[in-house]
Amino acid sequence: MAYSTAIEANLLATPLKLTSTIVLRNRLAKAATSETLATYDNRPTMRLAELYRRWAASGTGLLITGNIMVDRRALGEPGNVAIEDERDMLVLQAWARAATDLGAAIFAQLNHPGKQSMKGLNAGTIAPSAVPFAKEMASLFETPREVSAVEIDDIIHRFGRSAAICKKAGFTGVQIHGAHGYLINQFLSPHHNLREDKWGGTAEKRRRFLQAVYAEVRRQVGPNYPVAIKLNSADFQRGGFTEEDSLAAIQSLADAGINLIEISGGTYESGVARPVKPTTAAREAFFLDFAEKVRAAVRVPLMVTGGFRTAAGMNAALGIGALDIVGVGRLLAIDPDAPRALLNGRNSTHLVRPVKTGIKAIDGLGIMEVLWYTLQLKRIAKGRAPRPNESGLWAFIKTILGSGWGTFRTRRMRARA
Ligand SMILES: Cc1cc2nc3c(=O)[nH]c(=O)nc-3n(C[C@H](O)[C@H](O)[C@H](O)COP(=O)(O)O)c2cc1C
Repeated sequence: MAYSTAIEANLLATPLKLTSTIVLRNRLAKAATSETLATYDNRPTMRLAELYRRWAASGTGLLITGNIMVDRRALGEPGNVAIEDERDMLVLQAWARAATDLGAAIFAQLNHPGKQSMKGLNAGTIAPSAVPFAKEMASLFETPREVSAVEIDDIIHRFGRSAAICKKAGFTGVQIHGAHGYLINQFLSPHHNLREDKWGGTAEKRRRFLQAVYAEVRRQVGPNYPVAIKLNSADFQRGGFTEEDSLAAIQSLADAGINLIEISGGTYESGVARPVKPTTAAREAFFLDFAEKVRAAVRVPLMVTGGFRTAAGMNAALGIGALDIVGVGRLLAIDPDAPRALLNGRNSTHLVRPVKTGIKAIDGLGIMEVLWYTLQLKRIAKGRAPRPNESGLWAFIKTILGSGWGTFRTRRMRARA
């Protein structure tokens, strides 16, 4: 379809039948953005409901929560929500209703960080194999130990249990986090997974953990509940997960009945969601070329996240049929009202710009931007306006101090429990 026709059609605002029971009111999704708004013993707070109400009120069709941990002993960051049992059912229900009462669908993103967990936060980290981080990242993340076969079975079961609790709390669906270098992605990657048992050794065996997690989630939520996956198109790491591996994983999940596939890319070592092509107005998204290959291979609804900024770019991508849902992260963290404009064919007045501290060693780290945007999410959750001009260096200092304090409080609360 021609670029101008796509804009006229304003495809972004058209509904999408996701499953036999779920219709999204439009094709604009807030991609998962870790909020770190839980207590230091990882219980959700009403701030989460406030934040998600804001995005639902501005018209977003689908809201995907920041990553929720399936094991409170294995956190990615201090302040992550963990769901292991029903102790927080009331707050979870309020969080889900904040979106659904205003017509948005909300999916809970479930994750296990594996080795990608801030140093000192957990009592040691696990991964498919004890592969150390690259030199630049070794100050942030420690070398993990190899996870045992019994622990693998436990983690698989935990994904299913957390999903069943989210279903009971009223979330529209769940999304399994298989991207960005976390545990599932580690299993998929020949760089991180050097196992020679049934969980590694060949691409097929490296996919087995992902398939087992999906199968267990499906078993615990039943056949009709929406289950999505976020997967990397590739890790962009030498010896890592490639587009070919990703396509094979997608094909196997499609065959097994997954309801939505979200494409992203990168890891904290290689850079999360980094641009893979020079952007143009019509192809501003990073992973469109890969999305077109996925589209040719499977018929499952497809969401692509990374780089979308303008109504024209979003409508053009929908117009060429490369995807069904446009995922947006950073723009909605600095402008929660952006959906209102975008759905009317207008752009946000805010620009997503690179966030820098001016210190080269820090600016090279993939997590720098995430820290800055997380502070903006926290402002929105408190009913304040985001600060698009907030200094990168200030955000970095504030977060490092906050994270040190959070790690201390998390460890202390855990010791008392
Ligand atoms: C503050 C922040 C937190 C994020 N947390 C998550 C997360 O919990 N899970 C996830 O899959 N992606 C996470 N992401 C990545 C986004 O979902 C998205 O893939 C990325 O920001 C690229 O999209 P964008 O160019 O629209 O920002 C996060 C991104 C930011 C900026």
